[in-house]
Amino acid sequence: MVSINPANQIIVALDVPQLAEAIALVERLPQVTFWKVGLELFYGAGTEILEYLNHQNKRIFLDLKLNDIPNTVAAACRVIATYGVEMITIHTSVGRAGLLAAQDALNSLSTPRVKPIPQLIGVTLLTSFSARDLAFDLKVPLELPEYILHLALLAQGCGLAGVVCSPQEAAQIQQVCGDDFVRICPGIRPLGSEQGDQRRSLTPKAALDAGANFLVIGRPITQAPDPAHVFEQICAQCQQ
Ligand code: C5P
Repeated sequence: MVSINPANQIIVALDVPQLAEAIALVERLPQVTFWKVGLELFYGAGTEILEYLNHQNKRIFLDLKLNDIPNTVAAACRVIATYGVEMITIHTSVGRAGLLAAQDALNSLSTPRVKPIPQLIGVTLLTSFSARDLAFDLKVPLELPEYILHLALLAQGCGLAGVVCSPQEAAQIQQVCGDDFVRICPGIRPLGSEQGDQRRSLTPKAALDAGANFLVIGRPITQAPDPAHVFEQICAQCQQ
């Protein structure tokens, strides 16, 4: 049986457009210790939301999915490292030069610092992609699991701390890249919840059993009539 402290392993996605809404959600879910700030909220609220979460002693997963040339992603990492966030994301599809530049930029920050240096996490293939999308839209001639493993190994070879992957790929990545290479899994759907745009999902418990270190869960919790109740239910299911 996988032992879990859900308070530490479930990252709730604060996918709302404005600071006030985000704060209201954090206040409704005091038991959540780890929050994801993504594109919508960062564009809507900027660094103020990060200051708020830091002030509340919350852990922050800043999911901005950097995707640009090496010089630009490296420069962005140096700025983001001043925000006091625990993890940041970059698309592995920026390639080896971009991943190395971003990781080098973080490694070269001077220590000791007031704020810890964020871990760099590579986004493999978005969990909204199916095998068919990969083959027909992106024209990638590999099987989906093989492609994702390739991206995970690329990220690991460039010194990244881990990857975002679907829970369906977590076991294989753990087996090949080792236990210490972090696996963060969105695409989590408790039984009975809406699939939405996610295509490669598992239930929270199945995802942890498959080797996910962290679950990123948004709509099943945040759009529920009683988010705290759903969060507690998920934690209880994970411990069964
Ligand atoms: O609402 P839902 O549970 O689908 O939210 C999943 C969250 O994880 C979203 O904030 C989304 O941006 C993020 N994510 C994802 N797939 C990835 C990387 C991040 O769904 N590959």
